[in-house]
Amino acid sequence: MQAVEQLDALREQVKQWRNDKLSIAFVPTMGNLHQGHLSLVRRAQELADKVIVSVFVNPLQFDDKNDLSAYPRTLDADLLKLESVNCDLVFTPTANVIYPNGMDKQTVITVPDMDDKLCGQARAGHFDGVATVVAKLFNMVQADVAVFGEKDYQQLLLIRKMVNDLNIPINIVAGETYREENGLAMSSRNQYLTAEQRDIAADLYQNLLDIKNKIEQGEDDFAFLEQETVKRLQESGFIPDYVDIRRADNLERAQKRDRSLRVLVAARLGNARLIDNIACNLA
Ligand code: PAJ
Repeated sequence: MQAVEQLDALREQVKQWRNDKLSIAFVPTMGNLHQGHLSLVRRAQELADKVIVSVFVNPLQFDDKNDLSAYPRTLDADLLKLESVNCDLVFTPTANVIYPNGMDKQTVITVPDMDDKLCGQARAGHFDGVATVVAKLFNMVQADVAVFGEKDYQQLLLIRKMVNDLNIPINIVAGETYREENGLAMSSRNQYLTAEQRDIAADLYQNLLDIKNKIEQGEDDFAFLEQETVKRLQESGFIPDYVDIRRADNLERAQKRDRSLRVLVAARLGNARLIDNIACNLA
């Protein structure tokens, strides 16, 4: 596996693979890799001849400076993990490679209707930072396909909309959420939880399963289901940010006639802000 930090070296390798008629899949990450990330790498390997993973903790998408400085940086361990799943190339740019003129002078991409709801409300500017860095990485890597986790469902839809709106020539593929045995979605932020909180955190997924079952059995008072779940999460010790039942395709508020829904939740537990979501399809 090659690890490259500079854009020229990345482009050189991509050019060579292109000359050899090899297809390329891309998995962008912020490092501190876990099995969820590695499952995306495996999915990427099914989709193309070569797989490129980027590891870059993107300062532009952090609304909170403390969150940015606390974000775990574990590059050596990440490289070993990527090597163990036969990743072909890891791109590890510095902030200078991504933002050579500084972040203040950077052209920023805003994806309307997708950046201001749900997680966008609590995290001002976050999704502009995500869209901007992902667009830049797409142009740097020039892959045929990129894989994003359903764990960050709003991010996945935001990237799909950006690619569509800007005619970026890349296919976006969704990877399933990889979970701990107790159902907790794997996340770099889970390490901010104590052992006891990790057990409680599993309630997040249990509540999503519960809403899904109720909707699929015919309950259509969505506001009631949302409020009931907020209360239950509070009783378990969470500080819920939102529990929302939305349309799966555009995250608008769900109406009774909608068939393809997504239930999304964000809640604080101790020092971690956890998010999760589940599909809910009605016949
Ligand atoms: P990061 O949080 O490192 O996540 C990288 C990718 O891994 C994302 O597509 C995310 O949805 C996926 N992922 C995280 N946990 C997962 C899980 N338990 N199962 C499956 N996939 C999971 O998301 C980002 O980085 C950044 O915003 C980024 C897109 C790299 C832009 O900076």
